[in-house]
Amino acid sequence: MLRAPLLAVARSRRMRALIEAVPATRAVVRRFVSGADTADAVRVARELAADGRTITIDHLGEDTTDAGQAAATVQAYEQLLSALAEQGLADGADVSVKLSAVGQFLPDDGEGVALENARKICAAAEAVGATVTLDMEDHTTTDATLGILRKLRGEYPWVGAVLQAYLRRTEQDCRELSGPGSRVRLCKGAYAEPESVAFQDKSEVDKSYVRCLRVLMAGQGYPMVASHDPRMIAIGQRLAADAGRTPSDHEFQMLYGIRPEEQKRIAAAGATMRVYVPCGNEWYGYFMRRLAERPANLAFFLRGLATR
Ligand code: FDA
Repeated sequence: MLRAPLLAVARSRRMRALIEAVPATRAVVRRFVSGADTADAVRVARELAADGRTITIDHLGEDTTDAGQAAATVQAYEQLLSALAEQGLADGADVSVKLSAVGQFLPDDGEGVALENARKICAAAEAVGATVTLDMEDHTTTDATLGILRKLRGEYPWVGAVLQAYLRRTEQDCRELSGPGSRVRLCKGAYAEPESVAFQDKSEVDKSYVRCLRVLMAGQGYPMVASHDPRMIAIGQRLAADAGRTPSDHEFQMLYGIRPEEQKRIAAAGATMRVYVPCGNEWYGYFMRRLAERPANLAFFLRGLATR
C-alpha cells in the first residue's frame, strides 16, 4: 500500500533534502550501502570474497543533468576498478552502471554522451578482467538502454543488462537476449510504472518472472537470477538443472544487506552468488526504493530513527 507514495518520494527533490538532513538516516542507510568511498566498497568486496560470494558494485547516482557529474561518475568507476585490481579482487568482478548517471538525460545528445561514458567504463573493466552490467531504470528508458547495450556489445560482447519482469514487454526482450554470450540479470522491477506497460499485481509479476526465467534458462546466454524471493530462487535452481546448466553458466544475485545468510548458503552449496554492492554518497533514490519494496525495510528505517 505504501509502495506508490514511497516511490513518489524517491523522485522528490524536496523530500530528498529533508530525509538526507536527518543525521540518524545515514546510520540506517549503512545496512544497504557499503559506504561513501571506494575503500568501503573494496573492503566489502574482500569480506564477501572470504565466504565465496562475488560482487557487482554500483557507484550510486542517477538522473544527472550535469555533464561534469557524469564525467565524475566515470572517473569513480575507473578508480574503483583499479582499486579492486590492486587488491586482486577485479578478476570476475562486475560493475553495475545506470545510464542516467553517466549522461543519458543531458539535454545535448544525452544518449551519445551516455554511450561514450559507458564505453570508457567498459574499457576500464576489460583491462582488469571485470564485466559491466547496465542497470534498468524506468520504462521510458528501456528502448534507449537496450539500444546502447547493442552498441556496446559490438565492442565488448560480455556487457550485460537488467530486464524487469514487471514490464509486459520483458518476455519478448528475454527471447531477443537469450542468444550466445548474452548476460541478462532478471529482476522483478523497482519503479512506479503505469498499468499500460507493467503488471500491477504481485502474482502477475511473479508469473512473468517465471516465464522470463524459462526463456533465459532454455537459451544460450548467461542468466542472472536477481531476487531475494525463495520461490523464484528455487524455480531458477530447478530450471537451471533441467537445462543441464552448471555454476559456470548462470548465477544468483541479491542486494547487499538483504538475506546475507541465504547468500552465504547459496554460495556454500556451490552456486555462483553475486552481491550487488552500492557505494557513494548518492544513496537517496536507491535507499527509498528499498524502503518501498518491503514494509519490513520501512519498519527497520523507522525503528532506526526512533532509537538514535
Ligand atoms: P520481492 O520484493 O517480491 O520479495 C519476495 C520475497 O522475497 C518476500 O516475500 C520474502 O520472502 C523475500 N524477501 C525479500 N526481501 C527480503 C528481506 N529483506 N529479508 C527477508 N526476505 C526477503 N530493479 C530495477 O528496477 N532495476 C535494476 O536494475 C535492478 N537491479 C537489481 C539488481 C539485483 C542484483 C537485485 C537483487 C535487484 C535489482 N533490482 C533492480 C530490484 C528488484 O527489481 C526488486 O525491486 C527487488 O529485488 C525486490 O524483489 P524480489 O525479487 O527480491 O522479491
